[in-house]
Amino acid sequence: MKVILLGTAAGGGFPQWNCACRLCTSGATPRTQDCVAVSADGRGWYLLNASPDIRAQILATRALRAGPGPREIPLRGVLLTDAELDHSLGLLMLREAGGLPVWAPDAVLHALSAHFPARSIIDGYGGWDWSSTSDIKLDGLVVRAFPVSDKRPKYARSSTEDGPWVVAYRIEDPATGGVLVYAPCLRGWPDGFDELTGDADLVLLDGTFHAADEMSGATSARVGDGAQLAMGHLPITGDGGSLARITRYRAARPRTRWAFTHLNNTNPVLDPASAEHAAVLAGGAELPGDGTEFTL
Ligand code: MLT
Ligand code: MN
Ligand code: ZN
Repeated sequence: MKVILLGTAAGGGFPQWNCACRLCTSGATPRTQDCVAVSADGRGWYLLNASPDIRAQILATRALRAGPGPREIPLRGVLLTDAELDHSLGLLMLREAGGLPVWAPDAVLHALSAHFPARSIIDGYGGWDWSSTSDIKLDGLVVRAFPVSDKRPKYARSSTEDGPWVVAYRIEDPATGGVLVYAPCLRGWPDGFDELTGDADLVLLDGTFHAADEMSGATSARVGDGAQLAMGHLPITGDGGSLARITRYRAARPRTRWAFTHLNNTNPVLDPASAEHAAVLAGGAELPGDGTEFTL
């Protein structure tokens, strides 16, 4: 299985267009919004989430460019982990595809028609096909959706739809035995997540925040309103943070590489010269940038 990280930043990207914080003005390498491409054969590709940056991401990625026919494209479908705009707006950019299968949790399918009518808009441009995560069929890859949380987007706050609203995906290539787990939105460490990742070669993990009070704390970027803890993203450090767990797992589970993605513009690990960046690497996790490729 081939895996390409098309984008590794959280909503708004890095730098964020409306932000003049220390990091956004530091000149650190830019990152586009979180999106991954996977393929069993290197010819047909599936997107994990649909970033608003998808046009630039496709043009920057040789394997995803159109051809050889004048209107042939290598995209075969899209899997959504959630209904957040940074993970779904790209569907509108893909309207010229003329129709692709999209898989998402039922609550997400509901949100994309009842709260943000993306489905009816896109359906006007071709034969799109919307299916639940109980019914995923990809060429050459076996997928399991794993329920993560009921965190819903702000625009669907009023929804009473049952969850899960957020899932992770475990994707296996039966030909190689390679396993990817993609979990860019984790509220905590879910029950069953240890089993899900137990035989993974690569786990792409929610790296949105370094610390729980990063957006509004005393030593922070001071760009937030204190609501960050409710944003549904498990921080890398601090009480119950993900890095300490990864460090513990590294020895017992040497097969698994852990990489943070969906990095928010306030996250100090974005600066490769920072102590926080070095501490993540020393703790046994990775911070791959846009365009990083893995073969599993
Ligand atoms: C999130 O990941 O929490 C959301 O994408 C926030 C947002 O709307 O950008
Ligand atoms: Mn997001
Ligand atoms: Zn900023």
